[in-house]
Amino acid sequence: MKVIKAKDYEDLSRKAANIISAQVIIKPDSVLGLATGSTPLGIYRQLIEWYKKGDIDFSDVTTINLDEYRGLSPGNDQSYHYFMQENFFRYVNVPKDRIHIPDGEDPDSDRACRDYDVIIKKAGGIDLQLLGIGRDGHIGFNEPGAAFGLETHCVDLAESTMAANARFFGDKDKVPRQAYTMGIKSIMQAKKVLMVASGREKAEIIRDAILGPVTPQVPASILQMHPDFTLVIEREAASLI
Ligand code: PGA
Repeated sequence: MKVIKAKDYEDLSRKAANIISAQVIIKPDSVLGLATGSTPLGIYRQLIEWYKKGDIDFSDVTTINLDEYRGLSPGNDQSYHYFMQENFFRYVNVPKDRIHIPDGEDPDSDRACRDYDVIIKKAGGIDLQLLGIGRDGHIGFNEPGAAFGLETHCVDLAESTMAANARFFGDKDKVPRQAYTMGIKSIMQAKKVLMVASGREKAEIIRDAILGPVTPQVPASILQMHPDFTLVIEREAASLI
């Protein structure tokens, strides 16, 4: 595990974007596993800036996002399709047919998840998986207690996750109760994993995930076992490690 400390959020975003940029320069047809959430936003802004300057080219890149709410259409402004489109894809040149996000509209959850695993395999696996971390240690929508051996599957969201996301939906009752997510096994199969964490509210869970026992109760703790795991962390989030 490599831990890279950043002095603030801007610095974290630049450092993590540099790692992604290096990946794409070294392997232009990289398969990037992407993530939503507030922490990666600065990374996407930085990558867009470098793309506009001509310093990075995504024309051969494939992207595979971690997760999507079940039941939300791509046009719903709370869907992860919408998030990725508005915060990244509309500004860069990843070809449309190489952008993959679970199909939240597919009511057949077994099919939706199986199809997604096939997409990952056909792409040749993920070269670099970007991850945030939830305050309960979740990665993607793999909540505490999630089995380590799962690939893409349908999950019931934890109450705490629905509460944390309620701010985006205006009302907790409007937050979807299920999501399709890559499993821990899918994440662990990525060749490289890049996690970003920022803010004092992540300090305890980062301590538990990085220094504590590897346990399904802290899903991110499994990353201690990943052969190429990099954590880029801002000072406050790193205050207990
Ligand atoms: P955040 O979300 O980046 O908005 O804190 C992280 C996550 O829940 O994975």
